[in-house]
Amino acid sequence: SRYFALVPAAGSGARFGAETPKQYLSLAGRTVIHHALAVLCACPRIEEVWVVLSPGDEWWAAEDWSALGHKLHPVYCGGATRAESVSNGLDALAATLDADDWVLVHDAARPCLSLDLLERQLAELDTDPVGGILAVPVADTLKRADPQQRIAATEPRDGLWQAQTPQMFRFGLLRQALAATKTVTDEASALEAAGFTPRLVRSDVTNLKVTYPADLLLAEWILKGRKP
Ligand code: CTP
Ligand code: MG
Repeated sequence: SRYFALVPAAGSGARFGAETPKQYLSLAGRTVIHHALAVLCACPRIEEVWVVLSPGDEWWAAEDWSALGHKLHPVYCGGATRAESVSNGLDALAATLDADDWVLVHDAARPCLSLDLLERQLAELDTDPVGGILAVPVADTLKRADPQQRIAATEPRDGLWQAQTPQMFRFGLLRQALAATKTVTDEASALEAAGFTPRLVRSDVTNLKVTYPADLLLAEWILKGRKP
């Protein structure tokens, strides 16, 4: 089976609060999305990288993508939610992929994925019938709030992990699972709802998602520390 990447990049970045969607903000000399795509394109096993853009996207076409080679396939089929964008992207891939090909769904807003981590995920899941996700064990103590914002309970964090991307699944299973549930916030939960038990591949906190302005500063620091 072959490997493809699908990158949802049709969000508006409401929580970040900038004029420009956060994936097009500048980070260590490139855009956030450029970093996210560069690592996927640099992975020899990944054949094509499909990017789901908002139909009204005016930033993609303004950027020079030639440095990333010929793996990139932009499609302007983003939806109202991340799940919808991914689902529309999978429809676009359907003409190319077989049911047991791998799809790695990776957030455009996650620019610090390292090639090492990506290769480890591919190696760990290679022979798996379903797939799995990068994730990290929860580090903080978790509190459940009551309606008055007082602590109702302290949740044991044993066995709790924080989901990241890439989320890597067999194309046929992922497409079926997402078609059945449109309300999920990640791909794994769609597979779970369909009765599968995706694997957790241990990642680290440097593979952060840019959500708030402070995340961009952290990402800058992480990427600059990696340069030789
Ligand atoms: N995304 C998408 N289509 C949407 C919403 C999100 O393709 N309708 C993408 C984002 O571009 C991002 C990834 O999904 O790469 C993760 O989503 P998130 O961090 O929530 O980004 P935004 O939705 O843009 O941010 P916010 O929720 O703060 O508005
Ligand atoms: Mg969002």
